[in-house]
Amino acid sequence: MSREIDEGGNTCSMPAWCPPLADMRARGFHLSSQTGMIFNAVLAAAAISSMSELHLFDEMKGCTRLSIEEFCGRHRVDAATTRSLLGALEQFEIVRISSCQQFVIQGRYFSEAYGDKGYFLWLMNGYGYLWQHLGELLAADQRGVNSIGRSGKHIALAGWDYGANFVDPYFFDVLEALSFRVIADIGCGSAERLLNILERYPTVCAVGIDVNADALEVARQRAQERGLQDRVTLMHADLRDMRCSTVLENIDVITSFFMGHDLWPRESCLALLNRLPEIFPKLRRFILCDTFRSPSTDSPIKPIFTRGFEISHAMMNQYIPTVTDWQELFADSRWMCIERRDIAIPFSCIFDLRL
Ligand SMILES: C[S@@+](CC[C@H](N)C(=O)[O-])C[C@H]1O[C@@H](n2cnc3c(N)ncnc32)[C@H](O)[C@@H]1O
Repeated sequence: MSREIDEGGNTCSMPAWCPPLADMRARGFHLSSQTGMIFNAVLAAAAISSMSELHLFDEMKGCTRLSIEEFCGRHRVDAATTRSLLGALEQFEIVRISSCQQFVIQGRYFSEAYGDKGYFLWLMNGYGYLWQHLGELLAADQRGVNSIGRSGKHIALAGWDYGANFVDPYFFDVLEALSFRVIADIGCGSAERLLNILERYPTVCAVGIDVNADALEVARQRAQERGLQDRVTLMHADLRDMRCSTVLENIDVITSFFMGHDLWPRESCLALLNRLPEIFPKLRRFILCDTFRSPSTDSPIKPIFTRGFEISHAMMNQYIPTVTDWQELFADSRWMCIERRDIAIPFSCIFDLRL
């Protein structure tokens, strides 16, 4: 990176391959402006999510360079638009385009973007409608889950991606210590984690429960693709309305990832926690993983994901409990929290609950 001084006397960092700032300034561009960076960052976010949907990152991971023409031909996408999107990524050093313009190469921040791409799918695809209509929804006070147009399918796909990187290593560590025959995941989304459990534990059966039909469709497809459809039952249901049934009778462990806050306010969440043994009569353990409210500090700086999570839930009129809220709730419930383990998603942890 080279460092240059802009008109306001501020030092700014420019990628080494950028034309000199003075040259750009002479042509009337405001390259170093804060708003210019924000504008381009939004486009880079769109580029990460769209290129991730087309598997660009996966294809680039295992090779030193990828032919842009071949990539576009394989995915039947327009090469000019793809080159522009790659340019949006190049500005942030996620990729580099070769000087002959034929190849795309990993940039300095490729690995970081590879790991974090699920957050961008979540933000841009899962909640895209909300960001596009935020002003009008706010002005009309149209808050609520049904107003903000979130995409259950994309949230499921995003959770699968960031979950594999930032949740599973911690979760499987906790699971290792348990013995179980039938496990259920509530709010299972893509069910990818349940399918991973089935592969790891060949004698176990699983039940995936989700209120969102589009998420369950992703789960159904994944179970078929992985040849595990006979060992997993997928149920379209809202946990809050569930009663015991034959499918639920033998479940001894339940898990839930990034859904617990949806069960608040406190009184209804507490009542449901206490009712779980009626719904699942053989239940002994509940592994509850969730993102909690970030502490308020003097600094406006938040890590990746947190602000998007908090704004979207404010728009859904959904209270996000703090870690203390959760711990006080467990203390008042039938459940004992035997361990709290932080995971690699900001302000998120696993609560290991026992009856
Ligand atoms: C943020 S997503 C997480 C998906 C998945 N657990 C993961 O980690 O990838 C939360 C999921 O919980 C589901 N959900 C929310 N409230 C629910 C309820 N009351 N009963 C069943 N599923 C629910 C949503 O439809 C969504 O698929």
